Amino acid sequence: MRHLITTKDFSNDEILALFKEAKEFLDEKPRTFLEGKSVTTIFFENSTRTQSSFETAARRLGAKVLKLDVSRSSSSKGETLFDTAANLDAMAPNAIVVRHKNSGVPHTLANYTHCPIVNGGDGKHAHPTQALLDLFTIMEHFDYNIKGKKIAIVGDIKNSRVAASNLELLPRFGIDITLVAPPHFMPNYPINKTNKLKEVIEDIDIIMSLRTQTERHNIPTYASLKDYANDFCISKNLIKDKNLIILHPGPVHRNIDISDEVMADKRCKVLTQVKNGVAIRMAVLKKLILES
Ligand code: CP
Repeated sequence: MRHLITTKDFSNDEILALFKEAKEFLDEKPRTFLEGKSVTTIFFENSTRTQSSFETAARRLGAKVLKLDVSRSSSSKGETLFDTAANLDAMAPNAIVVRHKNSGVPHTLANYTHCPIVNGGDGKHAHPTQALLDLFTIMEHFDYNIKGKKIAIVGDIKNSRVAASNLELLPRFGIDITLVAPPHFMPNYPINKTNKLKEVIEDIDIIMSLRTQTERHNIPTYASLKDYANDFCISKNLIKDKNLIILHPGPVHRNIDISDEVMADKRCKVLTQVKNGVAIRMAVLKKLILES
């Protein structure tokens, strides 16, 4: 049984094969590969993009979707996470997509269930399909010539599962990463680091801006997000007319992470990432379900 818990679960060859398939799925036409199959989504943490993207992907492949509304589930009556998962598993879905605020939950659930588990984001640990769609967006933009491209990952890197998954994945495909963050958002990671965005901008092909994950901060780290924005917001004044692209996993804090003006700039690929995410999740669900 294959699961997708971290990006390490797929080899580079498997990822390139997924991208080949995802490229075809960009036509947004319905397919029948998963007719008669079902996909269950359990999101214990809020989501706009990931949950709807997986559900759109499953339906576009012909699968049925069961979405557990956690706020109305028996979790509020004291049922454990594992019993919730075991009960949904007893209904024989062909895959379960799970998000949880605690790192490691999807990995543990994989020992309790009889179908592939797909990690929709666990704590600060991993968000594998986000990193896959980020890499796919970069590949598509640069026509698959990405070796040696330089990316600045900017913001609350220490608390970001998106950054963690990209830190694992992007170097495998030859992308050079610089981390740009204030000291309290900087992880202990042995690669290029700076807290001066202006100093690296000349040398960068891709900016990945990240949201300040205030829900994961034990203590407030900035007196005001405006102070943070002064140093780290991606503004027109910063990027000028440079030939680069801007990514963000969402949700975007406008004028804190990225300015309104840059959000409207054609170099900003935020909505392209969302479109690509459905195609990537179609390829992932098809692979995991049909290979099980
Ligand atoms: N990128 C992402 O995980 O967004 P959501 O939290 O809206 O799913």
